[in-house]
Amino acid sequence: MSNTLLIAQSTMEQEIDALLAKMTLEEKIGQMNLYSGFYDATGPAPEGGSAATKYEHLRKGWVGAMLNVRGAEETRKLQEIVVNESRLGIPLIFGLDVIHGQKTLAPVPLAEAASWDMELIKKSAAIAANEAAAEGVHWTFAPMVDISYDPRWGRVMEGGGEDPYLGAKIATARVKGFQGDDLSSTTTIAACAKHFAGYGFAEAGRDYNTVDVGTYTLYNRVFPPFKAAVDAGVKTFMNGFHLLNGEPVTGSARLQREILKGKWGFDGFVVSDWGSVAEMIAHGHAKDSTHASQIGVKAGSDMDMASGSYLKNLVGLVKDGKIDEANIDEAVRRILKVKMELGLFDDPYKYSDLEREKERIYHPDHQAGVLEMAKKSIVLLKNEGNLLPLSKNQKGIVVIGDLADDKNSPLGSWRLASENNTAVSVLEGIDAITKEYQFVQGPKVFLEASFLQHVKINETDNNGMKEAVEAAKNAEVVVMVLGEHGFMSGESRSRTNIDLPGLQLKLLKEVYKVNQNVVLVLMNGRPLALPWEAENIPSILETWQLGSQSGNAIAQVLFGDENPSGKLPMTFPRSVGQVPIYYNAYSTGRPVNKEGNVFWSHYADEENSPLYAFGHGLSYTTFNYSDLNINANDSKNIQVSVTITNSGSRAGEEVVQLYLHDPVSTLVRPVKELKGFQKIALEPGASLTVSFTLTDKELGLYNRDYEWVVEAGEFRVMVGGSSEKGLTGSFEIE
Ligand code: BGC
Repeated sequence: MSNTLLIAQSTMEQEIDALLAKMTLEEKIGQMNLYSGFYDATGPAPEGGSAATKYEHLRKGWVGAMLNVRGAEETRKLQEIVVNESRLGIPLIFGLDVIHGQKTLAPVPLAEAASWDMELIKKSAAIAANEAAAEGVHWTFAPMVDISYDPRWGRVMEGGGEDPYLGAKIATARVKGFQGDDLSSTTTIAACAKHFAGYGFAEAGRDYNTVDVGTYTLYNRVFPPFKAAVDAGVKTFMNGFHLLNGEPVTGSARLQREILKGKWGFDGFVVSDWGSVAEMIAHGHAKDSTHASQIGVKAGSDMDMASGSYLKNLVGLVKDGKIDEANIDEAVRRILKVKMELGLFDDPYKYSDLEREKERIYHPDHQAGVLEMAKKSIVLLKNEGNLLPLSKNQKGIVVIGDLADDKNSPLGSWRLASENNTAVSVLEGIDAITKEYQFVQGPKVFLEASFLQHVKINETDNNGMKEAVEAAKNAEVVVMVLGEHGFMSGESRSRTNIDLPGLQLKLLKEVYKVNQNVVLVLMNGRPLALPWEAENIPSILETWQLGSQSGNAIAQVLFGDENPSGKLPMTFPRSVGQVPIYYNAYSTGRPVNKEGNVFWSHYADEENSPLYAFGHGLSYTTFNYSDLNINANDSKNIQVSVTITNSGSRAGEEVVQLYLHDPVSTLVRPVKELKGFQKIALEPGASLTVSFTLTDKELGLYNRDYEWVVEAGEFRVMVGGSSEKGLTGSFEIE
């Protein structure tokens, strides 16, 4: 650490000490209290937390932070109350779920993950931070870095997919994008790695449900993106709603004190999830709200989001000697430090500037940035007979599907500050490129659903089916835009069926009967099970939910202005019955069918393999892999190189993926593990040699005692364009 940095830090610590010395116990506890603004977004309203009470509490210095307050004007108004009317005038920190943008929306995070492009992901987070900061927001509850391989869980749309290596890279990119190099700048905001830890393993994919994973999985799959976030300097962490191995994570001293703040040296603060301190009562872990508060603070949950429990109980708990005031001081110190780093003590209003807000929201550079991100997030799943790209002069294109003219669904879930119906629809995108198409909506598949309502699906309304089939009959190409409503994924949007909802598959089948030239454009926030579609439909484009510029990005890919380059960050199953299914699984003792024996690890009614594997994604060109070279002379620095040639006729981008396998290990290793990737661009006919370096970091694993170990013996390498196949080789470690 440089001298200047050390001096700045010690000055900051002195300032915090001085401030703490002036604070009453109530004021300290106030800093640990996070209230929601004017409506209660994701849970029941806290007891005694009405707006009126909140104003009163602001004046008393009983509130350290607020969430769900949007806009320069509102944030300034509340900040003024605290700064001018509370005794010490300690500024509030305003938090918001800025998950994939403030007003200009980028693709949902799972879509961004499909780009495998860390620079673009970082830039996308920076755009989100820039707009959020202009609306007075200081702190985002992102990135969600929960590894998950359960597409039933609606929150997969918010994460980076199933793989810890890719997940860790994305966590780093997003934290750096949000926070930038200078947290006190009015273009950056504090990030929050969530939900620590294991939330992506909610049993049966049901949100808020129990998690039970062993130490091996916890250390080797769940932790890596969290650890990467700490290493990238993330300022805050959020715990979660769930039980992990019998203990609510909000009450876990082992996770928060021992591992996060202890072993990893995290020096920011931990916020609870919405009401999760009080939810320890329903879990059967705390007997009442006082007990829950005691457990939370002892476990290192520094700030209470929305339950009001700390405010209600901590004074009493300290006075009764049940909590040491030093615990309170420690939490407050962490919170004040982030406020100082944000520059709020120098100027509490610096983020709330009406002029800046006007200038930055929907800035053309932001639109260009999210368009680029959207184009790179699209995955071409199948392209039989090169039906895609379509020619711009092609006549007789018919577009079918309720989602084709939808300007809301492509915005996806988790967009608390955004405006409805602001996405470029697929039809508008096609319009911008060609006027030569006819649109038939087909049956109206979805009823309107507002944010807090569960999505209802109209199963019976057949209107439009006949018309769609008629139009398809005479078409040369049919583009069908099908998938999920924008709020079918996200928090509390778990599904037991992960097929095309409503009448869509029926519609697709009817159309296919009269015209086989079908391009299926999928819009969804999670992997779907699409066995019939994959078998029958010649071209399938996975477009997820791509945000504000959706339609433009999709049209540019459909008509070949952009060559798709995305790769799946999550496995697509054949059937929901295969879930959880993931590429980095372990071999069973009976991995193959020997001589028609029934007693091997398989299903009686389905194949074991996925529909589309992790890392899969096609291009309008083709790539040839050759010359795999492994140099293992230095076991601390193994060099792997491979040559990739663009063997097709278009320029394109490829994600070169390196997988490792240790075939004999004390703790068994997965059959494949991603340990390197590079995204490269190649002109037709051009070749490039790509090199990877493997060190202890890639070869090792955490054993049961959380020690990093590399075991001697053979390691196998595979390099290719997906987790399914590639060039293979091996080396020995002594
Ligand atoms: C979610 C968090 C989110 C919080 C605040 C909760 O329901 O689990 O991820 O940050 O609400 O909106």
